[in-house]
Amino acid sequence: MFGKSFRDRFLFPSEVVPLNHGSFGAVPRRVYQSYQQAIYDDLKFPDQFMFSKQAPEMEKSVKLVARVLNTDFTNLALIPNASTGINIVFRDFPFVKGDTVILTSIIYGACGNTVDYVVNRYGLNLKVIDIKLPSTEQAILGQFKEVFEETRAPGKAICIYDAICSMPGIRMPFELITRMCKQYGITSCVDGAHSIGMLNIDLSAIDCDFYTSNMHKWMYLPRGCAVLFVNPRWHDYIMPFPISHTYKNEPFYKRFIFYGSNNYNSFYCIKDALDFIQEDCGGFEKIREYCKGLSDGLIAHFGQDRIVKVDGATGDDLNFMVTVKVPLDQNQHEYFANAFKDKEHETKLIKFVENESLQKYKTFIQFGWHNNFMYVRFSCQIYNDLHEYFWGYERFEEVMKNAISECN
Ligand SMILES: Cc1ncc(COP(=O)(O)O)c(C=O)c1O
Repeated sequence: MFGKSFRDRFLFPSEVVPLNHGSFGAVPRRVYQSYQQAIYDDLKFPDQFMFSKQAPEMEKSVKLVARVLNTDFTNLALIPNASTGINIVFRDFPFVKGDTVILTSIIYGACGNTVDYVVNRYGLNLKVIDIKLPSTEQAILGQFKEVFEETRAPGKAICIYDAICSMPGIRMPFELITRMCKQYGITSCVDGAHSIGMLNIDLSAIDCDFYTSNMHKWMYLPRGCAVLFVNPRWHDYIMPFPISHTYKNEPFYKRFIFYGSNNYNSFYCIKDALDFIQEDCGGFEKIREYCKGLSDGLIAHFGQDRIVKVDGATGDDLNFMVTVKVPLDQNQHEYFANAFKDKEHETKLIKFVENESLQKYKTFIQFGWHNNFMYVRFSCQIYNDLHEYFWGYERFEEVMKNAISECN
């Protein structure tokens, strides 16, 4: 059922070969139609929509998301994106000078900037866990433990870590890190931007302090659709951005039903996205099974030696993004190592690869440099056949050869 032939349920033009779902997601036709309808219903008679529909639609949607995440809906807020989620948590967290923030070296850039902002603003201590991949679950947990041990001190500490990192696209042992945070009295903030839809997230079992996920990635919603979970112990501290009419002395979730005039229409499509997942795809498990098959196929094709991941996972290590090392000869290695050290050169290179891939081949594969090697990141999706990744990789190699001569 899934594969390239399933792609006509999405909006992609026929000549496009989409291999990069992880960056911006993609919307099925039926969800797009609901989205258009939602915009129309909102705009055609604003008084009627805003007075009688807006709040009930938001409540209905937040309850549906609560079921997917196995938490009470009163702990959830619908927000535009994961960046907003991390900003809300870090800007509202009751920091005082001398508190500590712990993060990893592979944190998503925008989230790293948010942390940098509060660290400077409040005079906080910053501890960076340097993750070098590939690694093992044991080694990574050991690194967190070491930093947590030395953080035992007066003052609060909060640790931010990914469920699935963006670049390289690896799965972190976030459930175990959360458990360790609790042991050490450290506040846990899971950047799960890539998690809802891809992984089976059970927030009651994970029991973190904060968690955010985009729904416009692996849950097929239009961009501008994400969720923030706030553990009840923090409800009083966390306000929407912007603060609006529903303020103190109201349940946490109510502050996020309406917070400033805006376009809330992607939230009203959550039911439609879940219907697509159930009715067209047969449910989350069927999607996971297919994407796992693609990721296993990629691993078999490129060989375990070239796969960049966290080995030795004690639990489920499902990940729809597969990161593969790119072999380079000595000259190529030297060229790219220098290019990725120089911001201007790196930007030029990335722009060239984007343009060349999109214009010549109507495709794009994410790539980056980590721990002295180049990698590509494939996104496994229900609208792809395995051979498309191999085709895409060959195109990537061609583009990279041209990049060396064109971007010097
Ligand atoms: C790990 C991670 N965190 C946060 C974000 C930010 O997501 P957004 O740009 O939708 O706010 C991303 C985006 O890809 C991400 O990969």
